[in-house]
Amino acid sequence: MKNFKTVLFGENIILKKLELKYAQEIYKLRQDTDVTKFLPNKYHNGKKKTEDYIKNNIEKWKKKKTLNYVILLSNRAAGMIMLSKLDFKNLNCELGVWLGKEFWHKKIANEAAHLLLKYAFNELNMERVYFLINQNNIASIKFFEKIGAKKEGLLRRAGYIDGKFEDKFVYSILKEEFR
Ligand SMILES: CC(C)(COP(=O)(O)OP(=O)(O)OC[C@H]1O[C@@H](n2cnc3c(N)ncnc32)[C@H](O)[C@@H]1OP(=O)(O)O)[C@@H](O)C(=O)NCCC(=O)NCCS
Repeated sequence: MKNFKTVLFGENIILKKLELKYAQEIYKLRQDTDVTKFLPNKYHNGKKKTEDYIKNNIEKWKKKKTLNYVILLSNRAAGMIMLSKLDFKNLNCELGVWLGKEFWHKKIANEAAHLLLKYAFNELNMERVYFLINQNNIASIKFFEKIGAKKEGLLRRAGYIDGKFEDKFVYSILKEEFR
């Protein structure tokens, strides 16, 4: 397979491969517990943690496991979006997204998800992209339903966060369903 795209251009946003130069901005956006409430890898208690997270993800990119992008709006980091658990045998992967609170409700995640799904289906040739969502994360459930994801079921005790197990809904979009 050829190299993965490090930049994807949308109408209002640009997705750029996550690099260390974004550590400060990402760290700042992750200081808000409303943003991180349902996210794994909170990594916001110290900028060093954010830098380690980014380094780790650059390694995962090299190993063709995870593609992590910063969502840029007028050259500012608004959040991140990623394809992870890339499985080129079964042609499946997971998509996750988060934005700093000041960027919510502006259809930024919608545009970012469409851009990355287009890349996943049309260029990486994925057959199924799935989304794991904490069952109490209403905004996220509505968001993924709005972009056309279908509920597959509930994964019991699929996560262990802050000392508690949590159930997660699994949603997905198939290639033929994506427009
Ligand atoms: C989920 C998230 C990425 C949505 O980002 P966003 O850019 O605000 O979403 P959009 O503006 O593209 O919204 C598209 C649709 O999502 C739904 N939605 C988004 N935020 C919502 C909220 N707080 N409550 C209910 N529905 C919501 C709506 O249906 C909305 O369409 P509408 O505005 O026409 O009603 C954002 O809320 C976020 O970063 N949350 C914290 C991190 C997180 O939980 N990520 C998901 C992990 S699975």
